[in-house]
Amino acid sequence: MRVLPHLIASLFILLPLVATAADQFEQNESTELKVGVRAINGIQAAQLQWSETTRALSNNIKGYHFTLVPIVDFEEMRKAVANKKIDFVLTNPLAYVDLNQHYGATRILTLNKKQPDGIASSSFSSVIFTHADNTDINQLKDIKNKSIMGVHPEAFGGWKMAFRELLLRDINPYRDSSIVKFSPNNAHLDVILAVLKKEIDVGTVRSGLIEKFSAQNKIEITKLKILNQHKEDDLTTLHSTQHYPEWPFATLSHVSNGITNLVFQALISIKPESKAATSGGYLSWTAPLEYNEVNQLISDIKYRHATFENLWKENKTVFLLSVSFLLAIIIYSLYLISINSQLIKSETALTQHREHLEELIDERTEKLNVEIKKHLETENQLAQAKKAAEHANLAKSDFLSQMSHEMKTPLNAILGFGQLIKMDTEEQTVIYDNTREILSAGKHLLSLINEILDLSKIESGRSPLNIEAISCEEALTECIAMITPLAQQKQITIDENIVSPCTVMGDKNRLKQICINLLSNAIKYNKYNGEVSIRIHKYKDKKCEIIIADTGVGMDENFQKKLFQPFARADKHSKKIEGTGLGLAICRKLITDMNGEIHITSEVTHGTKCRILLPTAQEINSD
Ligand SMILES: Nc1ncnc2c1ncn2[C@@H]1O[C@H](COP(=O)(O)OP(=O)(O)O)[C@@H](O)[C@H]1O
Ligand SMILES: [Mg+2]
Repeated sequence: MRVLPHLIASLFILLPLVATAADQFEQNESTELKVGVRAINGIQAAQLQWSETTRALSNNIKGYHFTLVPIVDFEEMRKAVANKKIDFVLTNPLAYVDLNQHYGATRILTLNKKQPDGIASSSFSSVIFTHADNTDINQLKDIKNKSIMGVHPEAFGGWKMAFRELLLRDINPYRDSSIVKFSPNNAHLDVILAVLKKEIDVGTVRSGLIEKFSAQNKIEITKLKILNQHKEDDLTTLHSTQHYPEWPFATLSHVSNGITNLVFQALISIKPESKAATSGGYLSWTAPLEYNEVNQLISDIKYRHATFENLWKENKTVFLLSVSFLLAIIIYSLYLISINSQLIKSETALTQHREHLEELIDERTEKLNVEIKKHLETENQLAQAKKAAEHANLAKSDFLSQMSHEMKTPLNAILGFGQLIKMDTEEQTVIYDNTREILSAGKHLLSLINEILDLSKIESGRSPLNIEAISCEEALTECIAMITPLAQQKQITIDENIVSPCTVMGDKNRLKQICINLLSNAIKYNKYNGEVSIRIHKYKDKKCEIIIADTGVGMDENFQKKLFQPFARADKHSKKIEGTGLGLAICRKLITDMNGEIHITSEVTHGTKCRILLPTAQEINSD
């Protein structure tokens, strides 16, 4: 029986342990949810103010443990939200609007704050004030050129609300005030004290604080003059601006609706007398208010206070990009301009060059025209001269043929009577010898006249050629027969070699006349026992070549240059050998008229070679 008291005692000792263990077990098993809180007045203050609220959440929502995460710096809070390091966020309206816009944080409740007079309010405002003694400042517009002080440039109730209010009245403290100052400690009290000490003309703090510090005897409220005081709305504390919703409690996008609902219910059921509410400085949580006015405040400040610094901060990237783009455009434009100027230069140079070229062409054309004109004039003069020469030549030929004809009649009479005298005269007498001389000279004169007559007839075209197909072999055989007696006198052998028979187009009698002259020359200007060779063969299919070569005295180079000129005879022959010096001239004229060629090569003491080329009958036909 003595065991029972021991057992009961043991139970009393063990029970709290078991309860703690169970509690710990429950905590270990529960899911942790983190509530990020903006610690404006430091981490410790935040913990004091809000840890009871998170505890109430943990107690009211089974299976979840809520941890308070105080965050001083707003950038840090942003990072925590972005990286889902926290699940709920409890912050000032300005920060909430930012998190809502950028990370989808959604308010579930708004704080119903306890005012100094004990009345709850879910919205707040800002007070703008001056010293009660200051008679210069009675309205907001009097702030111009006066010094002004706020709590912090980023403080909502402590600066931004008043700043917006002034901007809406076209007063920009940064532009119009003599100085804009902020509390170095981020403290509202500093601002009120600065005004009371008359260090600053105008101050602004969050609504409700003047009453609070007055209640704490930190300030004398009567020494303050409130500017632009709003009285008609339901906000009971002193205030100079419109009011804005209190701090929201927001859930983040990764948190489920179920948990959000549980948190909503837990917060809304917090009683004004609970530890959470009293330490949190609020009476309750109320349905979430609209935060549009906060948004509007941000945009008003943004657009009405568009300082270069602000713009730079917000649009740094866009600005830098635009500047780079502009620079690129300027550089590219400069490049284009330089290319363009180069183009213009080249174009000008080209135009000048073209103009110069045109000038040159004009000059040259003018010169050419003058030259052409001169040339035409010369041509004209030449044609006229040629015509005159032809006319003169014709007149000469006419005259010669007429004269030769007239000379022939008396010459024939001289020769006839000379013959008679010779016949009546004894041989070996002086008269006989003289008569023979007269006859020889007369015969020479006659042949001279005949040949002149012939040449002038040919030249004047009064002896037309009778062109036909002639066998060269036949024509030459007839010529050889006629010339043989002459060859025999000098015991000259004639060698005829017909390599290939040819039919040429020409005048037979004239061809014979040519050949006889060339053969008689080959005999006349040959030595005793000399040789004359005749060769006929086809030359390159279309021509017939007749070669008459001798082993005679030949001609020196000087004389060869004069060949074919009428009356040209080698000096050594002119007296000894009978001849007129007209034979070769007639030959060349006739051969040319028959579309042929004559070439003579000669070597003194070795002999002479005459080549005649005449068109064959085939060539003429094929043409
Ligand atoms: N085969 C030849 N050998 C040497 N001299 C020649 C020969 N053929 C022509 N000649 C020279 O050319 C001159 C002109 O010849 P040509 O006109 O036939 O006149 P001709 O026979 O009446 O003298 C001749 O006087 C002669 O001096
Ligand atoms: Mg001759």
